[in-house]
Amino acid sequence: MNSPALSLRHNHFLNGGSALASGIRLPRSISSSSTSSSPFRVRMSLQENGPSVAVVGVTGAVGQEFLSVLSDRNFPYRSIKLLASKRSAGKSMKFEERDYTVEELTEDSFDGIDIALFSAGGSISKKFGPLAAQKGTIVVDNSSAFRMDENVPLVIPEVNPEAMAHVKLGSGKGALIANPNCSTIICLMAVTPLHRRAKVKRMVVSTYQAASGAGAAAMEELVQQTREVLEGKEPTCNIFNQQYAFNLFSHNAPIQPNGYNEEEMKLVKETRKIWSDKDVKVTATCIRVPVMRAHAESVNLQFENPLDENTARDILKNAPGIVVVDDRASNRFPTPLEVSNKDDVAVGRVRRDVSQDGDYGLDIFVCGDQIRKGAALNAVQIAEMLL
Ligand SMILES: NC(=O)c1ccc[n+]([C@@H]2O[C@H](COP(=O)([O-])OP(=O)(O)OC[C@H]3O[C@@H](n4cnc5c(N)ncnc54)[C@H](OP(=O)(O)O)[C@@H]3O)[C@@H](O)[C@H]2O)c1
Repeated sequence: MNSPALSLRHNHFLNGGSALASGIRLPRSISSSSTSSSPFRVRMSLQENGPSVAVVGVTGAVGQEFLSVLSDRNFPYRSIKLLASKRSAGKSMKFEERDYTVEELTEDSFDGIDIALFSAGGSISKKFGPLAAQKGTIVVDNSSAFRMDENVPLVIPEVNPEAMAHVKLGSGKGALIANPNCSTIICLMAVTPLHRRAKVKRMVVSTYQAASGAGAAAMEELVQQTREVLEGKEPTCNIFNQQYAFNLFSHNAPIQPNGYNEEEMKLVKETRKIWSDKDVKVTATCIRVPVMRAHAESVNLQFENPLDENTARDILKNAPGIVVVDDRASNRFPTPLEVSNKDDVAVGRVRRDVSQDGDYGLDIFVCGDQIRKGAALNAVQIAEMLL
């Protein structure tokens, strides 16, 4: 018997809609925005001369967002293959008004595939990424598996598109391209335009990271725990090992011998690679907060050259993919809710760091939807650069 059909946005914690059924009213900004979910705005991007595309991990938080972004941006494709684990194989999923069957990821999945978007975890990427590349597929990988491999470009299209200039679609040669960590993407989207003007010497990042960063199951756990705590019950802790609702804690990534967790060290190492600057000083503290979707980051900057706050604000206003929300009079600054399901990264609280001399230091506050710009959108933008 066939499994029940999954709609494109089957996971109600990703679209907010049926989360009402769980007793939690998710805000409108979480439930809106996707053009693909509206019957009047569906775009058909099926084109004979487009590449053949595979989405690996299609049933997950990022995988579902891949489909949304591909559709929203009218990404041309000749065919699309939806891949996940054996558990999901055979399920039916709607994409751009057509029904597809989710297939189990196997070694044969990439025959004839031009571009594969991977979001099924590091071990899957390590096993299947190189295999796909050998078959001539260009793999855009969302996991951390290849990010620090010096032969693999680590790309934010607005920041370092030149890193993948040698990768060409249609050359018959496969390749791996890595998507940076979501916190790194959101941070560098805001900081790079300032870095280009005044050169960052040192950056101190403090993150406030949402449940969605840990996948669809973590979002469900936050909703469930919230309900349980409000009902006076013991919260169920399956994904995280402690209470998440009405709490916050140090990021759940493993702690390294130097005391930093892996998420923090990704910000340090990936910044250096993306900026091709092995000397830039970066330190980070990453915190998981009980926000459903979209990360926030407080970033303190020290520059080599002076940069006053008004010039910095003007630079940010003109930067691609950035929206400035910096209304001191009414105390309105970026929030995770307002960037949820949005492509742009929001920046505010732009102010001179009073602990540094002259105009050599700035503080900013950044919010970005890490499933979108921090993962799926960035990967699809990389794929667009191949067209
Ligand atoms: N969430 C984010 O904001 C974010 C941001 C940047 C990068 N990433 C990275 O993206 C990846 C996925 O994250 P996510 O948040 O989307 O996780 P998720 O919601 O847990 O989804 C995981 C996906 O991987 C699939 N999968 C698991 N085991 C598999 C197997 N053996 N073969 C094929 N597919 C398999 C799952 O399929 P089934 O449904 O069949 O199990 C599901 O589609 C991770 O590497 C993560 O680090 C996530």
